[in-house]
Amino acid sequence: MSVALPRHVAIIMDGNGRWAKQHKVAVALGHRQGVETLREIIRTASNMGIQVLSLYAFSTENWRRSPTEVAALMALILEFFRSEIDELDREGVRIRILGDKAGLPPAQRNSVTDAEQRTRSNQGMQLNIALNYGGRGELVRATRALAEKAVNGDISPQAIGEQDLRDHLYTAGQPDVDLLIRTSGELRISNFLLFQSAYAELIFVDMLWPDFSVADFKRCLDTYAARSRRFGGRTE
Ligand code: FPP
Repeated sequence: MSVALPRHVAIIMDGNGRWAKQHKVAVALGHRQGVETLREIIRTASNMGIQVLSLYAFSTENWRRSPTEVAALMALILEFFRSEIDELDREGVRIRILGDKAGLPPAQRNSVTDAEQRTRSNQGMQLNIALNYGGRGELVRATRALAEKAVNGDISPQAIGEQDLRDHLYTAGQPDVDLLIRTSGELRISNFLLFQSAYAELIFVDMLWPDFSVADFKRCLDTYAARSRRFGGRTE
């Protein structure tokens, strides 16, 4: 299976709210349970030798949720980085935040920036955590940066190609997404890694994120390995 191991796996961790409802507990507890799943999946992916794991933790649209839920998510993010950073660093995991860190509350901003700095030279799995992230916003930001370069005469508009755009995404330097998994049965990509997922294999799992296990994750990798990827070409 190692031949067909995806280099870059992205996950839309959906269904924490429904899990909380099913268990008749506050939504914050659903998210807390979701963090348990996330910890196990990070560890598994890192041990399996996956190069890049991208997790959609908080979108630019998630600010529309109730202040209580936003506060609960922000508290969990802080707690996650405080409690996990030592182990992640020990495992050689390199952390990058995808999204607009400037829009995060100061405590979260400092904590995630510290985690990025501390792990920047690590050689193990690249862990991308999307926070205050939106795929369209990411493309607008890259376009703006390229337009500025063009105006300054640093690049000619005719010379701008896919690679230039790629180099200005939050994921600059990383391979495209090979496998995109979404839990909870919803069949959408919800503005996640739009450019990077152009040829990703999509797997939708009819299971809420807190219930998603390491075995389920491995099943997704097996499904991926069994698919044939043609990138618009033809095989045989
Ligand atoms: C979707 O469930 C999940 C989220 C919006 C957030 C995912 C966040 C975590 C798993 C924890 C925080 C992250 C870190 C990095 C510590 P939903 O609430 O949309 O579920 P629903 O569709 O059933 O309501």
